Amino acid sequence: MYKTAFSIDQFMAEFWQQRPCLLKQGIIDFVDPLSAEELAGLAMEEDIQSRIVSHKAGHWTALQGPFEDFGILGESHSSLLVQGVNHWNGNIANLAEAFSFIPNWRFDDVMVSYSTTKGGVGPHIDQYCVFIIQGSGTRHWRVGNKQVLKEFTSDDKLKHCEDFIADIDVILEPGDVLYIPPGCPHEGYAIEPAMNYSVGFRAPDAKELLSGFADYMLRHDVKAKRFIDPKRPPSKEYGRIAENDIIGLNKLMISLLNSPTNTAHFLGEYLSETAHSSDLCVLSDAEDQIDYHRLHANMDEGLVLKRCAGVKALYLDVLPYQLFVDGHAYKIPTCSWALAKSLCDYSRVDSHSFRAFNEDAKQLDWLIELINAGYWYFDEID
Ligand code: SIN
Ligand code: CO
Repeated sequence: MYKTAFSIDQFMAEFWQQRPCLLKQGIIDFVDPLSAEELAGLAMEEDIQSRIVSHKAGHWTALQGPFEDFGILGESHSSLLVQGVNHWNGNIANLAEAFSFIPNWRFDDVMVSYSTTKGGVGPHIDQYCVFIIQGSGTRHWRVGNKQVLKEFTSDDKLKHCEDFIADIDVILEPGDVLYIPPGCPHEGYAIEPAMNYSVGFRAPDAKELLSGFADYMLRHDVKAKRFIDPKRPPSKEYGRIAENDIIGLNKLMISLLNSPTNTAHFLGEYLSETAHSSDLCVLSDAEDQIDYHRLHANMDEGLVLKRCAGVKALYLDVLPYQLFVDGHAYKIPTCSWALAKSLCDYSRVDSHSFRAFNEDAKQLDWLIELINAGYWYFDEID
């Protein structure tokens, strides 16, 4: 388990979404959750997004993975970056949990980088906020407050910005954390080979949400009102769309957004989807599948139920109770709601939490379905 060592209240009030800050030794007793070799192993996989960025002889290059050979990293001036590592490595998923004072729907992924000496991705601005945790090695970081800067693309793939004024200029050591809000320019170069962990957050824009909502309505065949115009006065301008008509059509569109049930259900599905696939342990063989009796045998053994790394599980605390996992909704009986909530709020739940359900098999059908789909699995207590 990773624990933060700063005042969360003060951080949220003074820095979150406002200005960058250095949280010196922000994680207690930090040890790298994975090695550079394990990171390279992930970068060899087809369905994991990875890049190698180099800056040699004044020229930037960015190559997309998967990679078979890491010789191109060389001795200096390059970085290997792997996205969504929290989906593939339980220790990295645990590291992200240190930031669970921000709700899960806001979390995006953990990107891990390994940099050789002087390696870095160059000065740039991200649209999302991020906590950058220093692992082994040291790295020189410069971070500026929001400022007007020209942005351009290097090597067709890398978004860079011009020189900026840095408000933070620091050498990060293992366990140090930098918080960078959206729009703040930053750059970091390794002083010696270094591991960095970027816990990133998502902030959907209105356009993405609206287009997601439109897909949701089609998928669920949501009933929608149609435009009507009884007692319309005869028109003398055949080609004109009158202001009144625009107001009426606008109201019609907004009427769909004004349905709290639809929008909440849509947000549950939409926000529980993730951009990366996970290493789910789907129990597809009939003999491996869990049923009510196996569930109870596992509880009696005192096993813990763990959420698979990277799986996003959210809930709406309104009736009828619903759980949203990986873009799908599950109806939960009121009597097992406390358990469903715990499974979303915590990455592991011990078997005592199930005791209340010993008598009624039906109450846990949803859980059996989720375990068989590979989203949760039983494990020994560690
Ligand atoms: C890195 O770890 O090199 C990149 C982190 C970032 O700038 O967002
Ligand atoms: Co960045």
